[in-house]
Amino acid sequence: MPARLLPGHPVADKILTQVAADVTTLRATGVTPSLATILVGDDDASAGYIRIKQRHATELGFTSPHVHLPATATQADLHHVIDQFNTAHDVHGVLLQHPLPTHLDHERALHHLDPDKDVDGMHPTNMGRLALGLPGPTPCTPAGIEALLDHHHIPVAGRHVVILGRGATLGRPLALLLTQKRPTADAAVTVIHTGVPDWTAHTRRADILIAAAGVPGIIQPHHIRPGAVVIGGGVRYAGRRLLPDVDERCADIAAAITPRLGGVGPTTVAMLFRNALHAARR
Ligand SMILES: NC(=O)c1ccc[n+]([C@@H]2O[C@H](COP(=O)([O-])OP(=O)(O)OC[C@H]3O[C@@H](n4cnc5c(N)ncnc54)[C@H](OP(=O)(O)O)[C@@H]3O)[C@@H](O)[C@H]2O)c1
Repeated sequence: MPARLLPGHPVADKILTQVAADVTTLRATGVTPSLATILVGDDDASAGYIRIKQRHATELGFTSPHVHLPATATQADLHHVIDQFNTAHDVHGVLLQHPLPTHLDHERALHHLDPDKDVDGMHPTNMGRLALGLPGPTPCTPAGIEALLDHHHIPVAGRHVVILGRGATLGRPLALLLTQKRPTADAAVTVIHTGVPDWTAHTRRADILIAAAGVPGIIQPHHIRPGAVVIGGGVRYAGRRLLPDVDERCADIAAAITPRLGGVGPTTVAMLFRNALHAARR
C-alpha cells in the first residue's frame, strides 16, 4: 500500500491564519509588525523568493521595507544596511536573502544582525538559545518539520528519529529541537553524516527518518524500515528543477512520507512569519 502523504500546505495555512489573527490583535494596540528584507545582486531565484515573502507580508498585515543592493556592494555596504535595520525601532525582523554574491561573507553579515531581529533563527545567539532551550527565534525549517509531524499526528516523543545530515541550517538545529522536553519533541535522536560509514544501518532502524543532506536520491527504499515515516528536507536545484534527497520509490515502503513538492518548504515560510510576529511582540 502506498504511503500516506504528509503535505506542508495545510500546516503552513494553519500557522499563517493564526499569525494573521495575531497581527490584527497587535495592530489594534498600535504596533504594526514589520519584516525587512535585504537582497544583494540580481539572482532571479532570490528575487523571486523575496517577492513571495513580500506578498505574504502584505497579506498578513506586516510592513516590509526592502533594500536591494547591487551585486558590486561591499561587505561594509551590507553591514551599513543591517545597522540601519538593527537600530530602526519600527523594524522587528530582518531577512537577509541568501546566497549572497561570492565576494560577500554571509556568516559575518549574519553575526552583524541583532539576534532578536534574526527571523531565520540562525544567529549564533539563537543557536545557543536553542541548545539551552531558551526562548528565541527558532530556525525555520526545523521548526516547520516539528509542526508538520504534529499536524499530521505523527508521534515523535520517545521514538527513534534518525537525521541524515548535521548541517547548520537543518540537521544540527533539528536534532536540538527534537530532543527538547516537549510533547511534540522528546525524541531519541541519532544524527548521521559522512563520518558514519555504515549510516544505512541507522536509517533502517528509524521510526522517523529525516533527510537533510542535499544529495539527490541519497535515501533509497532499501534504507528504510517498512512502516517508517520519511521526511524529505534536503533538496538540490538543477536550474529550476528540484532534486530531493528521498527517492520517490520510498513511498512504496514507508507508512507516511512528505510529497516530492509541497512538503517541508511551505512550513519553512510560515515559520519565518511566526518568528517575525514573535519579534514584533517582544
Ligand atoms: N525544504 C526547505 O525549506 C529547506 C530549507 C533549508 C535547507 N534545506 C535543505 O536542507 C539540506 C541541508 O541543508 P544544510 O545547510 O543543513 O546542509 P549542509 O550544511 O550542506 O549539510 C549537509 C549534511 O549532509 C551530510 N551528507 C552529505 N552527503 C552525505 C553522504 N553521502 N553521506 C552521509 N552524509 C552526507 C553532510 O555530512 P558531513 O557533515 O559529514 O559533511 C552534512 O552533515 C540542503 O539540501 C538544503 O537545501 C531545505
